[in-house]
Amino acid sequence: MAGYAHAGPMNPFRVKRGSPIAAEIAVPGDKSISHRAIMLAALSNGPCRITGFLEGEDCLSTLAIISALGVRVERPTSDAIIVHGCKGAFSPPTEDLDCGNSGTTMRLMSGLLAAQPFPSRMVGDASLSKRPMRRVIEPLSRMGARLRALGEGERPPLEIQGGALHGIDYTSPVASAQVKSAILLAGLLADGITSVTEPAPSRDHTERMLKYFLVKLRREEVREAPLARPSSCKVTLAGRQVLESRDFAVPGDISSAAFWLVATAARPGSRVVVRGVGLNPTRTGILDVLVRMGARVREHVTASEQTEPAGTVEVLGSALHGTTIGGAEIPNVIDELPAIAVAAALAKGETVIKDAAELRVKETDRIAAVAGNLRAMGVRVDEAPDGMTIHGGTELKGCQLQSFGDHRIAMAFSVAGLFAKGTTEIHDTACVATSYPGFADMLKVFQKGGARVRAGFPTPVEEKFPEDEA
Ligand code: S3P
Repeated sequence: MAGYAHAGPMNPFRVKRGSPIAAEIAVPGDKSISHRAIMLAALSNGPCRITGFLEGEDCLSTLAIISALGVRVERPTSDAIIVHGCKGAFSPPTEDLDCGNSGTTMRLMSGLLAAQPFPSRMVGDASLSKRPMRRVIEPLSRMGARLRALGEGERPPLEIQGGALHGIDYTSPVASAQVKSAILLAGLLADGITSVTEPAPSRDHTERMLKYFLVKLRREEVREAPLARPSSCKVTLAGRQVLESRDFAVPGDISSAAFWLVATAARPGSRVVVRGVGLNPTRTGILDVLVRMGARVREHVTASEQTEPAGTVEVLGSALHGTTIGGAEIPNVIDELPAIAVAAALAKGETVIKDAAELRVKETDRIAAVAGNLRAMGVRVDEAPDGMTIHGGTELKGCQLQSFGDHRIAMAFSVAGLFAKGTTEIHDTACVATSYPGFADMLKVFQKGGARVRAGFPTPVEEKFPEDEA
């Protein structure tokens, strides 16, 4: 295809300026929900059929670890996984448990493994080996767990002795769904009551999905005003509850859709409809941000029977302008900030991202990576310890960029390349497979542009264009 080359995952993505697009697309399954579907199914009392599971490397690490812990897993068809729940009574692993690049796997599994009557050790790749584990070690130790990180500064590998746990009432210093979930999963296997209070509500998949598997829990949100975004959140559950086995359908990942939402929102004349995407309100902050930047966005929830709202998002491209993103909104957009930063570079005026120091401890330091790559494209960026100010509206220059081994950096800057003058090459793109198999094919679709494109995951998307039904 003209202007685009991708011969394999190790090769750079080579991107040129794209054209306006009119497309209906679908995206692969939600990463956060796929991890949890496997773990909660393993905790349940029987077989659970999971469809829409994300076949990305991160979730496959969770699946492999659950199998290594003696849980029977079947693949009856290409799009279904049956996990035979064992009420969380795992068998000792025979070797180290490899979490690959996945912080979610290591942190959530630490809660489950801390409560097992056997020792285990979790390892990760070079990026995961640099990520902080104190945030789970500290609360789990308070629950009676014996675990330590073997790397410098409490970084992986994570060595867990295993043993009996008791509930705690914990106030987390960070708004992190991984920390909250590690504690809640440990709390389920512990004696007594466990509560976690967060400084701002993080994604609530664990709570919703535990309820779906018929666990009793209470979630209390504190709001400064009736319609304000919750300023903190407390979740409480009693230990020793057994999950009831149930089937589960994973919706599309709004964090993967985010790249195409930005690619559409920033190009007047473009229209994209994303079908079957998760619309959990703790994840849809990107839609609010794009609206504030001047994009026209509609969302329509068509399914929520399995506790996770899902439906359709439509975006129409406009001339964007800058905005400010901070405070309690940050946990809601944390994974989308690299894509939002690209939208900010394409928008007129200043965009301020603040209160987002967590970006420094993601798969790479995403503040440094985004600021560095935007500057290489000719954008003025002022970096701060907890965010950045992006001075948008100047034409992006195509250039050579690094992903720093971070999937979301590779994908966000592929989108930037669609708006740049000349060719943009993004190196080290194998990491994209952690969360978005098929990204390169969709990038081709957006590269080419044009009307009436139908593309998705799996392809083709089944839904019809309204005019087809006429
Ligand atoms: C996730 C929580 C977030 C997010 C990550 C997935 C989850 O991390 O950035 O990609 O599935 O719980 P934190 O809990 O560190 O904020």
